[in-house]
Amino acid sequence: MPPQPVPQQEYARVVLIIVLLFFLYASPDPGPPPGFPTARDYAAERIAVSRRSLDILNITKWQDFSPKGPDTPKHEAPRYLNLTGFREDDDYAWERLDAFRKRSSEYSDEARGKWRGVDGNENGLMPNVYENVTGIVAGRWVRRTADINGEPRKRVMNLTEITPETDWAFQGEEYWIRNITGNEGKLMLRLDEKQVDEIGSFEDLSLSPINAVRSAVATLTIQDETSSGDGWEMRLHGLHWPKQGTMLFTTTSDKFHGIYGLPHLTSSREHYLSGQKLLNRTLEKAIEGMEQAIWADPANPFTSSPDSQGDATMPVPHCELVVYAQVYPLKVDLASSAGHLDPANIVQQIEQEIRFPNGAPIPDAPRLQVSTVMFSPDCGFMIESKGPPDFSPGDGEHLLGKKQELFLQDIQSWLHVFALVIFAQIMLLKIQSKEASTPSTIGRVSLFTVAIMLMADALLFSSLSLLSATAPNLFPAALLTSFTALMSVALGVRFVGAIYQVQEPERRERLRTQQTTSTAPARPNATPARAPIITAAGADTLARATDAPIIIPSDQDIDLEIAENTTVAAPLLLPTTNTPATTTQTPRNSSSFGAIYVKFILVLTFLLFISLSSTSWPIPVRTFYVNTLSFIYLSIWIPQIRRNITRNCRKALLWKFIIGQSILRLLPFAYFYLKEDNILFADTDWKAFCVLAGWVWVQIWVLVAQEILGPRWGLPKNWYEEGWDYHPILREDNVEAGGLPIGLVQIPGSPTLERARTSEELGRKKKDGGVRTVDCAICMQVLEVPVVGAGEDSSANAGGVAGILARRLYMVTPCRHVFHSACLEGWMRFRLQCPICRENLPPL
Ligand SMILES: *[C@@H]1O[C@H](CO)[C@@H](O)[C@H](O)[C@H]1NC(C)=O
Ligand SMILES: *[C@@H]1O[C@H](CO)[C@@H](O)[C@H](O)[C@H]1NC(C)=O
Ligand SMILES: *[C@@H]1O[C@H](CO)[C@@H](O)[C@H](O)[C@H]1NC(C)=O
Ligand SMILES: *[C@@H]1O[C@H](CO)[C@@H](O)[C@H](O)[C@H]1NC(C)=O
Ligand SMILES: *[C@@H]1O[C@H](CO)[C@@H](O)[C@H](O)[C@H]1NC(C)=O
Ligand SMILES: *[C@@H]1O[C@H](CO)[C@@H](O)[C@H](O)[C@H]1NC(C)=O
Ligand SMILES: [Zn+2]
Ligand SMILES: [Zn+2]
Repeated sequence: MPPQPVPQQEYARVVLIIVLLFFLYASPDPGPPPGFPTARDYAAERIAVSRRSLDILNITKWQDFSPKGPDTPKHEAPRYLNLTGFREDDDYAWERLDAFRKRSSEYSDEARGKWRGVDGNENGLMPNVYENVTGIVAGRWVRRTADINGEPRKRVMNLTEITPETDWAFQGEEYWIRNITGNEGKLMLRLDEKQVDEIGSFEDLSLSPINAVRSAVATLTIQDETSSGDGWEMRLHGLHWPKQGTMLFTTTSDKFHGIYGLPHLTSSREHYLSGQKLLNRTLEKAIEGMEQAIWADPANPFTSSPDSQGDATMPVPHCELVVYAQVYPLKVDLASSAGHLDPANIVQQIEQEIRFPNGAPIPDAPRLQVSTVMFSPDCGFMIESKGPPDFSPGDGEHLLGKKQELFLQDIQSWLHVFALVIFAQIMLLKIQSKEASTPSTIGRVSLFTVAIMLMADALLFSSLSLLSATAPNLFPAALLTSFTALMSVALGVRFVGAIYQVQEPERRERLRTQQTTSTAPARPNATPARAPIITAAGADTLARATDAPIIIPSDQDIDLEIAENTTVAAPLLLPTTNTPATTTQTPRNSSSFGAIYVKFILVLTFLLFISLSSTSWPIPVRTFYVNTLSFIYLSIWIPQIRRNITRNCRKALLWKFIIGQSILRLLPFAYFYLKEDNILFADTDWKAFCVLAGWVWVQIWVLVAQEILGPRWGLPKNWYEEGWDYHPILREDNVEAGGLPIGLVQIPGSPTLERARTSEELGRKKKDGGVRTVDCAICMQVLEVPVVGAGEDSSANAGGVAGILARRLYMVTPCRHVFHSACLEGWMRFRLQCPICRENLPPL
């Protein structure tokens, strides 16, 4: 056997790989040339700087840092620290520090003002705050400019001078990130307090116990809505005085050694002393940690962007932030539950019960409320949470949220509710796919309607499994919900597969007609006009059929027969019959389903990717994206409406399914668009929700109208090919349409007519002027059919809703047989053939 010739491209690829490997091995060690500093030198430098800063913290005293401000007395010289960012030459906006401190005290007073009233025990507030503030709070912020008179001072910050040893990615002030330029926006603060160890907390007996302090970490997300920038997320390190509920955080970077100067930013001597003593110990520990990791190029342990790798090698300058936060006292209705609690340490009991629930009676989960003031010393802006005293509580109540345990409980219970919703969707899908189990019923269902639902469920499944993998606290609930979503996906895939399979011949037919239209312009009509059978032979057929019991033949028999018919007769468009002719093409079927499956997965991945990256888009763009995607998703019934029109069929889906799915799929939107404190902290937007719900509502009404008025109501006649009308207005003199259906024609000697004559109906018929009777061949019951007499005006009694509804009771086939609507519809669920003459029937 001769060797297969390797294609030219393969050679090129091999050569490329070899060249790459060569370069990889031949490249010299990535160390810098001699004389240049190594990574270790950088680390040693950084550690030395940190140590110097710590020394400064060690030796300085309260009020050693009192920069020049508008209120500084003339005779008093301003004092600065020899600490990066705290020096006079750095030219930071420290003149606003006093305003920041003052505002912080105002906010603390505002919060504590409420506990003072408690002494009289009037408003049921407790004089205590949560001591463990681990949790999430969110709210709105506003820019504070009240302390600025006129234009802000022009400052000259020269990064090269401030930090000679750092290579900044760029210098220009206008490119600094986190520069908040808008006037308001959203704010979210995630507070995190680790279990206190010996180092992390401090209680000095020389100070009052109320000044006990411990270290804390917070993650702050600021969204600047009036500017083009998106939200900034940063990690802050700082101090927490738990008895007072006061917190002070700061960012720390090469150009601002915030954490080393943090005690100087407090507003009281006690806070300064306790903070300095704690930081003296924790920072010492942190520097020791850096020394141990010197070989691994230790990064700044207090960095505010721990996730960005570039921060260590080529830092991007960003605005620094000092954050003051005040926890509000608990709002507890003491009267209801205080009887069981020891008044001395109510907060501890509540916190213990929240964290380790064992059924102790506690007041209803008091919320966590925090007010905050933030100040950027280098960019010079000051922002604060929106709320009293400047704003009424209706405008904003500072930051509201929950303790972490309660928040997790909330998410878990909502996940459970969501799992129930998905489960209900599964049940509906199950009922629907059971209902649509025959080829003719499946043929009516739109592939896209079900595929959109499947796509949504698959997206849900992937995001929920991501959640259950990344959030260990939510593991059981998220897993349960993602499992229900998986079940829904599995069921949906089966249903979509079935629909695809059944509609395959139809698609092929369409493809073929598209190809052949160029050569053969005349397309065979889907519903061939049949010569009316009004002869005695026809009546004969009817008589025979009515005598014999109707047996629904098994699928195989009829399939074979159809196959024979179709091979002999001209090929008819019969999408709902699985003729054996398709067996030769079965491999192609499955492979094309594979192709569409791959397409589906690709679209899904694409959507997932876009949605994940949309979290970093500007807010208006993201809102637009989310709303557009929601709108497309909630257009689920549009493909079905379209299919009803093209196929001229009704009753594709159960009403139970349509209404149920609409409601269930709107429920999550209702939650996120309407509920104020939803678990994603998403902004409520009832207008958008009304649009979405209204859109679904309109689609449902269109479906209802299609059911009642016919699938093609309201469409111009030339937009579609006229399909067979199963509910025609019957006229005695309707010659061009082939006259009246069999059995309604008055042929002397016809058995049907004999029976009709003998029945008393005949008399009434004459009276009504237009009701004829015939036996329905399926149920053997008498069927009354209104007939417009010759020469009468058909619009008189056949028009209008009453006429339409009356005509809905019977169905006339192209072969001019008449049945009860219910009977023939039931029959057509199994076979698209006339039960009497086995003529093919156009789909309903
Ligand atoms: C802190 O300062 C004191 C003197 O005020 C000195 O004895 C001590 O060694 C210093 N500690 C550190 C870690 O620099
Ligand atoms: C500030 O500290 C640096 C070393 O970090 C030192 O060279 C400089 O002289 C100090 N400046 C003052 C005013 O003490
Ligand atoms: C910043 O300071 C350095 C060193 O003092 C100086 O060379 C540079 O020109 C200054 N840059 C600006 C923009 O003032
Ligand atoms: C505060 O609560 C969180 C969450 O339960 C816990 O992980 C943390 O250890 C607690 N912190 C303190 C200081 O008790
Ligand atoms: C800081 O810690 C050192 C010991 O590590 C101690 O000698 C010094 O007095 C402390 N300084 C302050 C201000 O507490
Ligand atoms: C921040 O934004 C303000 C206002 O747009 C601008 O004047 C300033 O240069 C920007 N950068 C810094 C570092 O302040
Ligand atoms: Zn019937
Ligand atoms: Zn027939």
